[in-house]
Amino acid sequence: MLKGKKIVLGVTGSIAAYKAAFLVRLLVKEGAEVKVVMTAAAKEFITPLTLSVLSKNPVLNEFADGETGWWNNHVELGLWADLFLIAPASANTIAKMANGICDNLLLAVYLSARCPVYIAPAMDLDMLKHGATADNLKRVVSFGNKIIAPTEGELASGLVGEGRMEEPEKIVVLLNETFGGDAVLRKKKVLVTAGPTYEKIDAVRFIANRSSGKMGFAIAEAFAEGGAEVTLITGPTSLSTHNNAIKKIEIESADEMYAACMKHFDDADITVMSAAVGDYKPEHIANGKMKKNAEDINLKLIRTKDIVAELGARKKKKQVLVGFALETDNEKENAKEKLGKKNLDFIVLNSLNDEGAGFGYDTNKITIIDKQNIIKEFTLKTKREVAKDIVNAVIEMINKNK
Ligand code: C5P
Repeated sequence: MLKGKKIVLGVTGSIAAYKAAFLVRLLVKEGAEVKVVMTAAAKEFITPLTLSVLSKNPVLNEFADGETGWWNNHVELGLWADLFLIAPASANTIAKMANGICDNLLLAVYLSARCPVYIAPAMDLDMLKHGATADNLKRVVSFGNKIIAPTEGELASGLVGEGRMEEPEKIVVLLNETFGGDAVLRKKKVLVTAGPTYEKIDAVRFIANRSSGKMGFAIAEAFAEGGAEVTLITGPTSLSTHNNAIKKIEIESADEMYAACMKHFDDADITVMSAAVGDYKPEHIANGKMKKNAEDINLKLIRTKDIVAELGARKKKKQVLVGFALETDNEKENAKEKLGKKNLDFIVLNSLNDEGAGFGYDTNKITIIDKQNIIKEFTLKTKREVAKDIVNAVIEMINKNK
């Protein structure tokens, strides 16, 4: 899935420039954000207006805009992009890229870009075959750029041979395969819970726990990077998400988390419950702020609903449900009991006895136990890496059950 990916499309002077219009349309349809940079020669073949309307963004071709006095910052654009695609790429532009020549905005963006660069050459067959072009292509590949090979067929010159720019549909398929994450996760809906819950005592006080939300946010990011559409239901944290494929729903209490989970669970293919939901809440919430009158007060706490257990009970066969267990003693036995009771596909166990694991840390050490009682122990890793391990375990499970 290219949803949410930021793509700069570079268009150069080639008759295949008309294909850029189809390319922009397809990329936008995939949910990518597209900004087009053209060379002066490209404007002879297709108008900036066409590409601007299709990309829903102004098309850039000059370093400075004479009318508005605006400076098109090539460095910013190069850093903004998740991917720079140059299609069509003419022999001239490829030669300049091979030699670090920077006489237009497109080349300045190329030299400033830190993202992967894909080049789809388009030229007449003899130009492509020429030793100079062959050398230039080798050179740009040696810099780490990727070539989308031109295809054979009838060329604008009337000659027949290699040199046609790859078709936009095929380019989009290729980009999807490279950047769309794992095929198993593509277009899958994933529900992740994260963070603590706050259970109100009165207008200013609450009961909470030390969960930072870091593990749940990392899991949401890892699924989104893998190509899934993620709904992240989170208790109060100081964290933010970076991926447009994550829809964040903020809640405060266990009851609110319950309601949000019930609303979104049926739609989810995969659900990972990593939130530290409060198990108890005050039976009554005092109106206003409680006065400091008596020596002691009695606070009666009642159980909150076990959300994951309810989800487990209504889970359909195709849905994957993953729970967490944070244990201090008899860890594996307790985790296995929860796995069964809550009808989970697997449970992620983290022990408070492991140094660097659990609430607040940037690292975690997990053990995954599945329904078949297969136990996988992992080393202490960053929460990002742990999240990837959890995502991989889900993918493995889906593949096994296919
Ligand atoms: O039973 P325990 O609270 O240890 O189980 C932890 C798992 O249950 C976690 O996946 C947590 O997100 C989930 N949970 C829940 N609702 C609760 C308490 C925990 O969904 N009220």
